[in-house]
Amino acid sequence: MNKLPPSLIYDAVHVAEQAAIACHDWIGRGNDKAADQAAVDAMRASLMQLDIAGTVVIGEGERDEAPMLYIGEKVGKGHDTINEAVEVDIALDPLEGTTICATQGNNSLAVIAFAPKGAFLHAPDVYMQKIAVGPAVPQGHVSLENSVQENMAITAKALDKNIKDVTVCLLERERNQPLIEQVLSAGGRIKLIGDGDIFGAMETVPSHNNVDIYMGSGGAPEGVLTACALRAIGGDFQGKLLFRNDDERARASKTGITDFDKIYSINELAAGDDMIFCAAAVTDGTLMKGVHHKNGKYTVNTLVIDAYSRSQRIIHNKML
Ligand code: FBP
Repeated sequence: MNKLPPSLIYDAVHVAEQAAIACHDWIGRGNDKAADQAAVDAMRASLMQLDIAGTVVIGEGERDEAPMLYIGEKVGKGHDTINEAVEVDIALDPLEGTTICATQGNNSLAVIAFAPKGAFLHAPDVYMQKIAVGPAVPQGHVSLENSVQENMAITAKALDKNIKDVTVCLLERERNQPLIEQVLSAGGRIKLIGDGDIFGAMETVPSHNNVDIYMGSGGAPEGVLTACALRAIGGDFQGKLLFRNDDERARASKTGITDFDKIYSINELAAGDDMIFCAAAVTDGTLMKGVHHKNGKYTVNTLVIDAYSRSQRIIHNKML
């Protein structure tokens, strides 16, 4: 795999910031589609300006469903000068938490990740059963094959706490109800979120919040982005694609998936040690303040995780 140039970090931050700024007018307007469209347009426009030969591998959907930032779309100025421009695979979610943005809730994000070609699983837009833990739990210990109680006990031991103090974050969905009940009957605490499971899973990182495990089913594309972020900062993640019908299985086949029952490790979802993950805050959140506009100027906060240097930082950008 080719190595990403360090300057790509600033490009990624810029792209995420532009998407977050474009959402600003749509925060709290009750129009999730318009907010999403604004983010997509801005993210695509700034990607097109970059000196990369980029390919969207996790995007807005398949080409016939999503006219912009669709899976397979080529972005960047470098496609005609392939020998000079760096080839990059891109996973993106221009507005993660469209409803959060439309209703001015917490933790909606503009998310983009860059990696060398072939690093990201080409996950279809189906649901994924997920489990995520922070860096204090050694990789390979929690598993989707374990019971909820076993995973909670493993996590409690690694964090040196009692199982009754283990907090499990889940999307509040009917389909996650059996897991919610298992967490409660094991004596643990639940934290239910309405949307935004990339951030929900990233809350397992101690500097981010007080969640110990993320569990349950959410979007598979979001799962790949989460794996990318957690891999870079030392957490663990597993995902299993969930298929509701033959159409979803056919979509997966098109992306090259042959084993429909496979449990993907974090390294299979986001491979290698050279990835850049950026999440710009759209609405205010528990980790960062959202995008603000005052006297004609925007202020944006972006979480930047660089796998190569194993570092994370928040860039507070007051636009001049
Ligand atoms: P959108 O930003 O596309 O609305 O996704 C928000 C989200 O909550 C994701 O974080 C999550 O993975 C997915 O939706 C869950 O899907 P569903 O709402 O269908 O349960």
